[in-house]
Amino acid sequence: MSHRSLAADGLVVGYERGRRVLDGASVSVPAGRRLAILGANGSGKTTLLRCLSGALEPAAGSVAVDDQLLRHSRRGLRAHRQEVQLVLQDPDDQLFSASVAQDVSFGPLNLGLDDDAVRERVAEALRLLAVDGLAARPTHQLSYGERKRVAIAGAVAMRPCVLLLDEPTAGLDPSAVAEALAALTRLEASGTTVVMSTHDVDLALRWADEVAVVVDRRVVQGDPATMLGDDDLLARARLDRPWALTVGARLQEIGLLADGALPRDVAALLAALPDRPGVVT
Ligand SMILES: Nc1ncnc2c1ncn2[C@@H]1O[C@H](COP(=O)(O)OP(=O)(O)O)[C@@H](O)[C@H]1O
Ligand SMILES: [Mg+2]
Repeated sequence: MSHRSLAADGLVVGYERGRRVLDGASVSVPAGRRLAILGANGSGKTTLLRCLSGALEPAAGSVAVDDQLLRHSRRGLRAHRQEVQLVLQDPDDQLFSASVAQDVSFGPLNLGLDDDAVRERVAEALRLLAVDGLAARPTHQLSYGERKRVAIAGAVAMRPCVLLLDEPTAGLDPSAVAEALAALTRLEASGTTVVMSTHDVDLALRWADEVAVVVDRRVVQGDPATMLGDDDLLARARLDRPWALTVGARLQEIGLLADGALPRDVAALLAALPDRPGVVT
């Protein structure tokens, strides 16, 4: 699987007449980089992901993989879905077969692959998401975190270049978040570009290579530390500053942390602190 770039340009979307949710929104998903799409509730994250996946046709603007423009014909959508897969926020909107293995087989079977190829894809997807032990289980018996990972496995079985995840960590406890993130790392190693939407600024800061903030019906994209340290942007987007940036900046002010890039998570912050108070090396 090769990394391919997905981009949207000038998207205009309105569900109701006269009220636009996106108005000239552009975003690019660079191949092999982690992109977090951030925004408050109702800002348009899901709408943006649905446009990128082809599930929603914008009133204006375009979506492309490399330089291949998405067309909303049957053929165009079929081609796009082999490159780009969207996993919905609620796994119960996505899972409908009796067992885990059946659910994950659905996409590959629909591609018309033979039984061996389907089996191979399903086994691979279940392994990458660490749900192989659940293959025979009915989906409704699984925990919420397991259902979320099975829903992702269903998309992964299509072997997309770009995987779009709508709030993959929402509603998960800390150990389920860790399992989900570990699975995403394995997917990246297998050549998939991963995009996630979230309103969790702390997660975005520690996970993403780039962030795209949905604000005022458009998207502002850039480096996570710069964007999430921009108070004006955060206020407009109705987001808080990540705690690591607030605490790190204060520790620099009082001389407990060396100047330079701020740590992005607990482990990095603890590693950067001096052994004894007042000694910055
Ligand atoms: N199917 C729909 N019909 C009408 N309005 C919708 C629909 N989906 C989303 N919206 C509206 O569009 C806006 C953006 O929604 P959404 O993209 O779901 O935001 P987010 O994912 O950031 O919470 C919200 O005001 C929401 O109420
Ligand atoms: Mg949403």
